[in-house]
Amino acid sequence: MCGIVGYIGYRDAYPIIIKGLHRLEYRGYDSAGVALLDKEMRVYKKAGKVSDLEDFVKGIDTSGTIGMGHTRWATHGAPSDRNSHPHSSGDRKLTIIHNGIIENYNVIKEALLGKGHIFKSDTDTEVLIHLVEDIQNETGLDLQEAVRVALNRVIGAYAIVIMSADDPDMVIAARKGSPMVIGVGKGEYFIASDATPIVEYTKNVIYLNDNEIAYIRRDDLLVKTIDNTVQTPYIQKLELQLEMLEKGGYDHFMLKEIYEQPRSVRDCLRGRVYPQQGKVQLGGIKEYSDKLKNVDRIIIVACGTSWHAGLVGEYLIEEYARVPVEVEYASEFRYRNPIITEKDLVIAISQSGETADTMAAIELAKEKGATIFGVCNVVGASIPRITHAGVYTHAGPEIGVASTKAFTAQVTVLTLIAFYIAQQRGAITRNKLIEYLTELNEIPDLIEQTLKTNESVKAISEKIKDSRNCLFLGRGSSFPVALEGALKLKEISYIHAEGYPAAEMKHGPIALIDEEMPVVFIATKHSSYEKVISNIQEVKARKGQVIAIVTEGDTAVRSMADYVIEIPQTNEAFVPLIATIPLQLLSYHIAVMRGCNVDQPRNLAKSVTVE
Ligand code: G6P
Repeated sequence: MCGIVGYIGYRDAYPIIIKGLHRLEYRGYDSAGVALLDKEMRVYKKAGKVSDLEDFVKGIDTSGTIGMGHTRWATHGAPSDRNSHPHSSGDRKLTIIHNGIIENYNVIKEALLGKGHIFKSDTDTEVLIHLVEDIQNETGLDLQEAVRVALNRVIGAYAIVIMSADDPDMVIAARKGSPMVIGVGKGEYFIASDATPIVEYTKNVIYLNDNEIAYIRRDDLLVKTIDNTVQTPYIQKLELQLEMLEKGGYDHFMLKEIYEQPRSVRDCLRGRVYPQQGKVQLGGIKEYSDKLKNVDRIIIVACGTSWHAGLVGEYLIEEYARVPVEVEYASEFRYRNPIITEKDLVIAISQSGETADTMAAIELAKEKGATIFGVCNVVGASIPRITHAGVYTHAGPEIGVASTKAFTAQVTVLTLIAFYIAQQRGAITRNKLIEYLTELNEIPDLIEQTLKTNESVKAISEKIKDSRNCLFLGRGSSFPVALEGALKLKEISYIHAEGYPAAEMKHGPIALIDEEMPVVFIATKHSSYEKVISNIQEVKARKGQVIAIVTEGDTAVRSMADYVIEIPQTNEAFVPLIATIPLQLLSYHIAVMRGCNVDQPRNLAKSVTVE
């Protein structure tokens, strides 16, 4: 979490930093700050959003061609002006911004307090900059070396940028476990947590690796490891387009991203699905084709929405590839002593490719000899770099904190992986694959059609927007869809919502049902249709309000439900890709009607780089 931006060059740094912070606000938005360096260091910071910081500095001198900024998601120390970044050394000459957690900050702080250091915040970050200052004072080392020595003493994760009033021609950037990209311009460099603040200035970027420190001057960049080995940085071309980062006429990023799904799913399928040949091609995992023939078990690890996608993946992989699958919360998996063997395949799913728990789960499985695939959206993020192989979701940047298009892209990739494994293991016939892949290729059009339910979903949203609770029920692979529907609603509208397998309702949630309780069913005409109808009747018998997602032309559920949303007929395998769409729209409209901040829901962050 936390977004960081830095600039050194010939332009005014402040506008670049502020614009970049807005782009990174998805990473956290409880306080923001900037440091600008000219002849002197100036630090401005404020609790609240980046726009509050902008208001705060109005009329203040923001000149300077070197600077850095931070948008925070609080871990150590409550969101407040004084805990906002940047933080400074005791003599105010050094300034730091930080994303991550210094785990041993307390021990270091105790030692520094003993030496007379005075801290102005409750953060771990301030401790790190005091440590650098202390090392310089004690050893006389220059700043570069002092930073390197300090980083060797800290335990934890960080992406940091440091500036010094004594050296106004240099910024130092370093990373371990938190992302950092350096944009390479002519006579200027940009630093950021992801490429979005950089893309409009340069397409040439360097993704810093863990344990690397970059010493950046206007026309020179030196990268070293924290062990002092000089590195040759690899400059890559960004594929990101600026339009991808704008709202493009939509009121919110979330709505734009919901509407992008026909395109994002199409992009995800492109070049991978060959219906006429009955073939799936996944270049990223091709090398592991033989391994896939022999895997004993697949373990999917993920968090949040990605975990829900994993649950859909479990249904698909078991159904078509006939390999046993377990789906684990990465945060639980990493702290058990899980049984993992070399014959296991672990699939880590992560939109951001940075989630700390998912990364730790990967490291654990790797140590135990498993093969690890990543399913990630952000190209060049950490997870794709620590996995053996993987498949990108190609959904494009997702900026709304509540995940939408990334989820459907993850489910699409998992569908492809299921068919790919089935194909490698001979678990599916070519004719069947031709049939499935032909239908799969039509899914983007069906999503397009499903988006036309928007107005009726909006009307239903009006009816239930004041509810205090809401239940989402589904069976089979519609159960994870129910979980995802509930998560969306609680994330952005703050209505308490639960997702349950429809049949489990009678083991508890049924006690909550009365006329105040909306119950959303995914009741498409597939294998459990009749059973779901019985569950609908059980809700109606207790006066619950039923909102049902049904297959086009359905009459049976229509006669029982209070409201129905029709979605196009598709193969059961692909229902999650379609049924999710109206649920996303439902939570969106309810949140807008309740006056909630849809793109930046309270307390949440998009990229969770802390445990
Ligand atoms: C956060 C986000 C969720 C996301 C989860 C996992 O909680 O708000 O939208 O599903 O992290 O993130 P990942 O990037 O690993 O998919």
